[in-house]
Amino acid sequence: MADTLISSDFVPQTVIPPDKPLPLVRGLLQMIANPLYAWPKAMYENPYHGIKWIGRTFHYFRKPEHMKAVFLDHADIFHKSQFQKKLVGPALGEGLLTSEGEHWKFQRRAASPAFRIDALRALVPAFSQSAADTIERIKAMPRGQPVDVMHEMQHATLDVIVETILGGADPAFGYDRMASVISDYIDTMGKPDMLDMFGTPPWVWRPWGGKGRRAAHGLKASAVNAILRRRASGETRKDLLGLMLAARDPETGRGLSDDELRDNVVTFIGAGHETTALTLTFALYLIANAPEVQDRLLREVRDVCGDKPIDAAMVEELVFHEHVIKEAMRLYPPVSIIDRVATEDIDLGDAQVKKGDFAFNLIYVMHRHKMLWDNPERFDPDRFSDVRAKGMHRFQFMPFGAGPRICIGMKFAYMESVAMLATLVRGLRFLPNAAHRVEPNIRITLRPEGGMPLYAERRS
Ligand code: HEM
Repeated sequence: MADTLISSDFVPQTVIPPDKPLPLVRGLLQMIANPLYAWPKAMYENPYHGIKWIGRTFHYFRKPEHMKAVFLDHADIFHKSQFQKKLVGPALGEGLLTSEGEHWKFQRRAASPAFRIDALRALVPAFSQSAADTIERIKAMPRGQPVDVMHEMQHATLDVIVETILGGADPAFGYDRMASVISDYIDTMGKPDMLDMFGTPPWVWRPWGGKGRRAAHGLKASAVNAILRRRASGETRKDLLGLMLAARDPETGRGLSDDELRDNVVTFIGAGHETTALTLTFALYLIANAPEVQDRLLREVRDVCGDKPIDAAMVEELVFHEHVIKEAMRLYPPVSIIDRVATEDIDLGDAQVKKGDFAFNLIYVMHRHKMLWDNPERFDPDRFSDVRAKGMHRFQFMPFGAGPRICIGMKFAYMESVAMLATLVRGLRFLPNAAHRVEPNIRITLRPEGGMPLYAERRS
């Protein structure tokens, strides 16, 4: 019966798009401040438009057929653009997320064994433990005060990454230090640079660059420290760091250089922690405001897991939890724009793409597009139930990207989010905070401005 349900009537808060396109300069400034305010209503209603500017076309893609063309059918033509490299490159260097061609292939092969399902199943106890620690932290806070669940989820997912990627806490990866450098990086480097948008060369001094560069340096130094400590210990653990240290290219026998190792440690911390924290943050906001959904989650976790710590077999049975996580990522995709640049001309029917053109793949807009979803603004996790998801296009829900560059951590993220959500819902009841307005903003990831203060009551 649950399959045909509409889960809730809750329409969550978000940015209200402008009625009409903004004039060019205002539009550009708005793109830097918060692109969600620059995209007019019509973009959620029609399938495509392109804008010509300084000799190139910027293609704004938001229909599944275009996504399939860019990410799968012509993935060899659409490369990562300089925008993405500028935003994350200073910290992530030439790691898995930012590299191309043979260099990327080698690193992807080296990292893949750590993300196979049997390796991931062994990590579920670490996911549940991190959520259990979060519950204890919240219980120790003064009662009746809102809790910033974004801060708590960032803490919890950083603990998970340090435990599972690096095989345990390292003094150089202490929570406070890591959290502050990551936050400094996103605040300063995590938005398009106005000078870049006007074509200013990279050597021109940017007054706001220093803090971000120091943060990138801090992250890299911490990664080098973790690698040196592991080498000195002589341990051969099978966590991701251990696998990357042991990886050899089957064709050349080459291992990862020290720089590649460092860049990948920072990549896994950067790519794996903030995204999952935001998914959980928005999921908690949504269920706090949809008590009927929260009650269904509680019933499911009690039926499947009783009082026991959540393990891998239980995660597979927590189906409604997975639908809630998917719906949270539909409404608030942590990676809301994925950009590419065309390296050859290509005819996509309604879009004529020329070499050098930009493809802005607007995941946020596609996930709320009126041509694709019934009541797109409504929080309705049952739209992902087997029955209702049947008619969906394979590329209309893309929080993890698609094609060869699809997120390597996708299964990791689902298992982590489900195990953590179930543990949290069983220990605490989340309640809305009418005094706080939810204002998502795109800065590398889609973050709620000012955190996410919610009320949390302990369950008896
Ligand atoms: C909800 C959580 C997550 C979301 C929404 C997410 C989203 C994404 C997206 C959209 C991409 C593709 C980017 C592109 O095509 O340009 C990506 C790539 C990647 N993600 Fe995730 N991610 C998540 C969790 C994780 C986790 C947990 C890890 C690692 C532990 C991770 C590691 C990576 C890496 C290394 C890449 C680059 C893969 C490649 O290019 O081969 N991600 N992610």
